[in-house]
Amino acid sequence: MSVITVDHLRKTYRRLVAVDDVSFDVEPGEIFGILGPNGAGKTTTVECVQGLRRPDGGTIRVLGLDPTTQAAQLRQRIGSQLQDSALPGRLRVAEAVELFAAFARRPVDRDELLARWHLEEQRSKAFDSLSGGQRQRLFIALAFVNSPELVFLDELTQGLDPQARRETWDLIREIRHGGTTVVLVTHFMDEAEHLCDRVAVVDGGRLVALDSPQGLIDGLELPSVVRFSTAEPDLAWLEKLEEVESMTRRRDAVEIRGAGPVLALVASELVAHGIVPRDLRVDRPTVEDAFLALTGRAIRR
Ligand SMILES: Nc1ncnc2c1ncn2[C@@H]1O[C@H](COP(=O)(O)OP(=O)(O)OP(=O)(O)O)[C@@H](O)[C@H]1O
Ligand SMILES: [Mg+2]
Repeated sequence: MSVITVDHLRKTYRRLVAVDDVSFDVEPGEIFGILGPNGAGKTTTVECVQGLRRPDGGTIRVLGLDPTTQAAQLRQRIGSQLQDSALPGRLRVAEAVELFAAFARRPVDRDELLARWHLEEQRSKAFDSLSGGQRQRLFIALAFVNSPELVFLDELTQGLDPQARRETWDLIREIRHGGTTVVLVTHFMDEAEHLCDRVAVVDGGRLVALDSPQGLIDGLELPSVVRFSTAEPDLAWLEKLEEVESMTRRRDAVEIRGAGPVLALVASELVAHGIVPRDLRVDRPTVEDAFLALTGRAIRR
């Protein structure tokens, strides 16, 4: 049975349609990503799913419950890291964890939680005095204080340095291996690509694609880009190969776009012509390329 079922969800703010006929399922134990640009409706969607906002249309089931009428029961079983969170400035880290644990039916070991999210040294520090990254780690830690079956993480790695980001990804994978289902809201392409089993791409309140990161890429038949350098003056014949879509050249640097096994073909043709290319490499399409193709524009950062 699915952990989450969203069917024809709709949410408006006055005349603005923030979420427009969105449907998806989340399966047990998966890391499910919701990816889209600012204002796409990601936070609205996951807050409706958590029972924090009331939808205008559609149905939602989460762990067998209806979040619009059973939010209190749901709260015991899910963890939540909200995009815009704040705590009283003078509340200390350890106190915040105790406070949240007091509401939990199955609280985790607090020392272990602080250790896992590298907050031991900050345990006596007031919320006000924490750095942005430390605050973020505290909010993530608080999402896990009640041993949730399902956790929502909205902009998980906002404000984290590259090392903390990687480490957080590893921890989320570990948590998933422990059986927790993870819903991850992000506008970071690399995060979706590296961490998610499946990704829902939303844009302007609508679901525009839903697949694994590789599935998103493969489904669009995006070109690969082969790059190499050579002093050979005439390469026009390369462009005539069936798999080659286009070729550009700046001095010695050659760039070829093409579909399928274009790297192998270009390489073998070059060798057959007695040309040994320098720095030959291929760049495969990424989730970012897929996103561009799906929405017709780059994501705003
Ligand atoms: N409480 C609200 N009242 C009115 N409009 C809102 C409210 N919350 C969100 N919106 C609008 O709904 C749209 C979707 O917002 P939402 O916060 O769901 O987007 P998002 O995808 O999470 O964006 P971001 O990447 O910036 O977090 C936006 O146009 C936003 O301005
Ligand atoms: Mg948001």
